[in-house]
Amino acid sequence: MLYDVIVVGSGIAGLHAALHARKKGARVAVLTKSNPLRSNSAVASGGINAVINLSGYDSYERHATDTIAGSDGIVNRQNIIKMCQEAPAIIEELQQMGVAFDTNEDNTIAQRPFGGASAVRTCYIADRTGSAIVMRLLQECRKEGIIFLTNHQMLNIVTYKGGLSGITVLRRSDSHVTALGCKSLVLAGGGFAGIFRGHTTNPQESSGDTIAAAFRAGVRLSNMEFVQFHPTALKTNGSLISEASRGEGAYLVDESGERFTDELQTRDKLTRAILQHIQKGHRVYLDFRHLDPELIDTKLPSTCKIALTGAGVDIKKELLEITPAAHYTIGGIWTRSDTSTTLPGLFACGECAVTGVHGANRLGGNSLLEGAYFGRIAGSEAALYAVDRDYNPVDFMDVERDMQLVNGILEGENRYNINAMRSNLGEALFKNAGAFRSEASLLEADDYIRYLRGVKHGLCCVNKERENNVELSSILEFYNALQIAEAMVVSAKQRKESRGVHYRSDYPRRDDTYYNAASYIVKMGSVYMKLSFENAAKIDLGYRIRKFFILIKERSRYGKSYAA
Ligand code: FUM
Repeated sequence: MLYDVIVVGSGIAGLHAALHARKKGARVAVLTKSNPLRSNSAVASGGINAVINLSGYDSYERHATDTIAGSDGIVNRQNIIKMCQEAPAIIEELQQMGVAFDTNEDNTIAQRPFGGASAVRTCYIADRTGSAIVMRLLQECRKEGIIFLTNHQMLNIVTYKGGLSGITVLRRSDSHVTALGCKSLVLAGGGFAGIFRGHTTNPQESSGDTIAAAFRAGVRLSNMEFVQFHPTALKTNGSLISEASRGEGAYLVDESGERFTDELQTRDKLTRAILQHIQKGHRVYLDFRHLDPELIDTKLPSTCKIALTGAGVDIKKELLEITPAAHYTIGGIWTRSDTSTTLPGLFACGECAVTGVHGANRLGGNSLLEGAYFGRIAGSEAALYAVDRDYNPVDFMDVERDMQLVNGILEGENRYNINAMRSNLGEALFKNAGAFRSEASLLEADDYIRYLRGVKHGLCCVNKERENNVELSSILEFYNALQIAEAMVVSAKQRKESRGVHYRSDYPRRDDTYYNAASYIVKMGSVYMKLSFENAAKIDLGYRIRKFFILIKERSRYGKSYAA
């Protein structure tokens, strides 16, 4: 099939991109591998930041200043300023579509405080903001005649003579591999926090598939070392306990009932404060018991339900045990301000993209805003790019290569347990490349990833059925997870400082002399990755060569297998 624009991903960024491309007249298809309500947008419950009240209490400048202050450097200031200026128009557009934000008695939009914000500016729909917005956007997309290819997993980007031809996809209903041609492609497939399985608020589907596909296509990634942990995930199963809880006044306490930290500091600092308290032997809880039960019913109904179903806890009467968990990946596909990437015709937005608005630490409530803002731009730009352009041919060998990969996994003899492997990877990353890292721990993570890459070709489906084979999808996601994990660990090893969410216990201070710069990573041929830090000042050439440019042998590729 041929489309002007294909959008991969159906969160707030992808759906905005699809709508805005369609508005420009493009024939648009949205590809999504699972239920759109499993996207990280739908999980982001607490709200979306926008300055609504310009009465002198708050301003765009203040929103931008908070975002920059929270980021701990390496931001794109222009992008932040434009995003903050555009935020009220985004809220208005969503309202016009029928998104029913909670309101005050005078019918103005209600807002709640969020961490790192110097004013109360997070608009919300109870504690289900993301899912409510995604639901409305889906309906709007259907109304506009946008085609949805659900249950389709993107495999690879296909190019022809350096230009975009389309993508290869796995149709999960029958495990058929096919190519979809397009003139421009928008990647909005979300982040990769799901690779921290067992320690994440994300479903394991969040394996960075679109980021990995871009990387394999030679597209430049950036800031892969920055993985944001959410301070409050349910201890029992990792479900997100929204920042809305703390915004509405819940306390963080330990087993003695003592508050031990500021609940509304930025997520990087709060996560470390909680983890350090836990490492000292404490248990950490959210305490809602002093809140008005009516407020809990109206503003935190989902939290109530998650606590009851996930932990058997009635938050009106009992403490809810929490722990930090990987939540949002700041790094991903590097983009310019117009969301274009290093591959002509390829655009990226949302969590899979690096727009520079989060720097090294994202403020809660800014990700839905970023997704909407850059999704609109990506859709318009992709549609413009497609105008009067011919399709590039698709080389059948590209489809054949992915067919062989899929058939090999389906038909081969299995030697390992995919669930155990994904859990083990999650444990290893949490322990060695999580909220605290060091040279030694990152080397351990690297060794383990290398081991897994060596044995991954022994992973095949136990269930050989071609219809909706979840094992097949899981194995393909695992391949992506390993590639992404390696890029993350390599970047984290080279950033020998602590900044934002990246905390190195062996380099506990921020080092602006050498590292006030974004990291970039690209694949070089099939064998190497090149990592660089750009705009780093005062670096002599020798230091650059030794420290900032590294060539790392990629230890395996599809079809090859290496010993551990
Ligand atoms: O806590 C939350 O509701 C998450 C919000 C976000 O990630 O922006």
